[in-house]
Amino acid sequence: MCHWGNPILRKPCFPVEVITEELRHLAVDMIETMYSANGVGLAAPQIGRSERLCVIDVPEDAEKEEYVEVNASIPMPLVMFNPEILSKEGEQIDEEGCLSFPSIHAPVTRADKVSFTFADINGQRQIYTAYGLLARAVQHELEHLNGGVFIDNVTDKTKIDAKLEKLAAKTKRKLGLA
Ligand code: NI
Repeated sequence: MCHWGNPILRKPCFPVEVITEELRHLAVDMIETMYSANGVGLAAPQIGRSERLCVIDVPEDAEKEEYVEVNASIPMPLVMFNPEILSKEGEQIDEEGCLSFPSIHAPVTRADKVSFTFADINGQRQIYTAYGLLARAVQHELEHLNGGVFIDNVTDKTKIDAKLEKLAAKTKRKLGLA
């Protein structure tokens, strides 16, 4: 897992032109990595890649109750190549975390409803509308593909600043960048 301090997290990803066998395997590996880390999403930069590829699986029991039914038509796990957000609506504020920022959480405001499109693992174009936590996960993972991270949306970083600095220093030492 690439942690905060690794420059790849800031590198915008490039579009996937051909979904090769290698990329399909990579997507399956990413799903396994996400599950074993107990995450609800994972984006390519987090595993050291720069393709516009991310995976998401928000289990029903993690979703806000009022959204379980409306989100049920979206098959999970989602494998998304070249995902784009088509529209956003509403607002939700909740604690957010990221597998690249172990044990760092902070409140982030996101849209409560997003429509998005992507090519699935078979290259088929899909369009869905998600709500709640799933909508949050879609926004979070797409942000990664643009070189963004969730802390970019945290207005008051006072409580996490020390942890962030410590993590970045540790990562850079490991990578030989410090
Ligand atoms: Ni993340």
